[in-house]
Amino acid sequence: MNFQFGVDYYPEHWPEDRWETDARLMAEMGLKVVRLAEFAWAKLEPADGRFEFAWLDRALAVLDRRGLKVVLGTPTACPPAWLIEAHPDILPVDSQGRVRGFGGRHHDCQSNPVYRRYSERLVRAMADHWGKDARVVGWQTDNELGNSHDDLCHCGHCRAAFQAWLARRYGDVARLNTSWGTVFWSQTYSSFSQIPTPTLTPVNTHSPSLLLDWKRFHSDLIVDFQRAQIEVLRPLTPGQFITHNCMGFANTVDYFDLARELDFVSHDQYPVGFWEVPPGRSAADLAAALDLMAGLKRRSFWIMEQQSGPTGWQILAKTPRPGQLALWTAQSVAHGADTVVFFRWRSCTVGTEQYWHGILPHNGVPGRRYAELKGLIGGLGPLMPRFEGALSGAEVAIVHSYDQNWAFEIQPHHPDLDYQKYLLAVYRAFHGRQIPVDLVSDADDLRGYKLVVAPLAFLELPGVVQRLKEFVGEGGHLVLTMRTGVKDQANVCQTSAPLPGPYADLLGLEVLDYDCLRDGPVPVEFDGQKHQGSLWWDVVTPKGAQVVAWADGGDHKSEPAVTRNGVGKGTAWYVGTQPDAGLWAALAGLWAAQAAVEPVAIAQAGVELVRRRTAEGDFVFVLNHTAEAVAFEPKAAWHLVLGEALMPPWGFSVYETRKRGVQ
Ligand code: GAL
Ligand code: ZN
Repeated sequence: MNFQFGVDYYPEHWPEDRWETDARLMAEMGLKVVRLAEFAWAKLEPADGRFEFAWLDRALAVLDRRGLKVVLGTPTACPPAWLIEAHPDILPVDSQGRVRGFGGRHHDCQSNPVYRRYSERLVRAMADHWGKDARVVGWQTDNELGNSHDDLCHCGHCRAAFQAWLARRYGDVARLNTSWGTVFWSQTYSSFSQIPTPTLTPVNTHSPSLLLDWKRFHSDLIVDFQRAQIEVLRPLTPGQFITHNCMGFANTVDYFDLARELDFVSHDQYPVGFWEVPPGRSAADLAAALDLMAGLKRRSFWIMEQQSGPTGWQILAKTPRPGQLALWTAQSVAHGADTVVFFRWRSCTVGTEQYWHGILPHNGVPGRRYAELKGLIGGLGPLMPRFEGALSGAEVAIVHSYDQNWAFEIQPHHPDLDYQKYLLAVYRAFHGRQIPVDLVSDADDLRGYKLVVAPLAFLELPGVVQRLKEFVGEGGHLVLTMRTGVKDQANVCQTSAPLPGPYADLLGLEVLDYDCLRDGPVPVEFDGQKHQGSLWWDVVTPKGAQVVAWADGGDHKSEPAVTRNGVGKGTAWYVGTQPDAGLWAALAGLWAAQAAVEPVAIAQAGVELVRRRTAEGDFVFVLNHTAEAVAFEPKAAWHLVLGEALMPPWGFSVYETRKRGVQ
């Protein structure tokens, strides 16, 4: 069920006599779907058990007259003041024991039974009311689950829930003691009830095993919170979909788990929205977030919030240049979005998000953003049904593992080592070569890929070694990196074999020593070129592997940096450091060549080529992420279906290729 384009709308923020104008302007712009109500708890239930749905019905009627369908958000991210007043223990408690107050959003503890009960009652009332309403096409659970909950919650309910989660995982406390190694610093527990949540301690930290299980518990809690809503919604909303708006690389909740019970995932794409982050989120990083979303269920998705103007709360990000909003939207579509919903319709005059601009400015008069996006919708919208459901048909996969990510958050090793940055560096290398990549989980089936990169496979997780070995055994090309095979699932160092533990045979090497590169990078030579390895150096002893790059001076002179081990028709590569961008790019080229992986085509720097592959042929998006006009030369068999070969600054064009097999 797809609508190409829509918008997030808050009728409750505006006088009712304006709704008609809004609906007309939306329809004239080509929008077909509107998300409503995801923060409207206090309007929908102004007092305990008093449901007031008539205003929202009136809004639905206004939208319906213009042919606009509706997605309803369950408004559980904003428990109202009356509820918090009556039940203050709904408020979350941080790791220092401080209660976080009412006044923002997500001032809630997801283990709290009272909050759960009220949430589920409201969701049920809404589903009873709108579950069979033809104007409503689907539901969004809560809003950005995991957002605002990073370090929360440490209340008694959460502690009990964590202990119960541990009891289910370990069975008895003796097993937990052994698995975690609680003998260290006298942390042995004689009952699950003694186990703390990771609150502030004198040394500022906890056992790495406790910390990892806490992150897993926290993720499971969020999944469970969503499941409770889905269980209410499913039976009452036949024919309506259920989705959730994820946040790309946010990692409080394992999105592979969260996605499992959804019909499809949605994502919120704010290319310059996160104003706290210094500039530098490249087109490749934006692409990676989109590819992760496609990877969650390995299917096309929705954008539930696509940036529609300047963004910021207290501080603003740079205003998008003319063309950029349309370009970023096209990029979302190129990477697999079947519907893009813009956030938000009109810039709000009140509240925290006064400067998070909508399509319309504060005064509600359509201007440059309205015109730009209307133009985009008119051009791209009619094409979208032709590649609905299609993804890129990538032959390369990068494993994105929440467990590994969490383990490196707990122990980054080097102050600058970051799991996601490492992974993004790999992604950028393929992206720069216009090679489509899927981001997959460590539980995914890898058959069908030619080349798999599993960066920083630090923890030995169930089934993964076996799957990777089979992949290589069947002729696949596998890349593993520094800090592979170091620990078991409980975040305890493994002792069964020299590093890289269970992967030593596959890789044909041993790592008998290592060095955290606190003094700076190691010069590395590859293919006659000078590069650098930084942050970490595995001292690799080849046991059959061939050395393809090595240290070219310094403390590690002549030691291997990159190795290759042939295993039957397959290959297992090892990268024992963090390569610089040039080395990653060179290696990606080598791996792609060896695995016979082709780029979409060749393009100049700053131009991104993305395809959606259908049974009839490919639709190729050519995205000009530069401030200059670019003349793109398509392959002979490509037909221009949108835009021009000469792309304006921040412009894009779309080509259709001939049916595959037809030359
Ligand atoms: C998103 C959120 C929206 C809005 C937006 C701007 O993260 O889902 O509700 O808050 O950011 O801050
Ligand atoms: Zn709690």
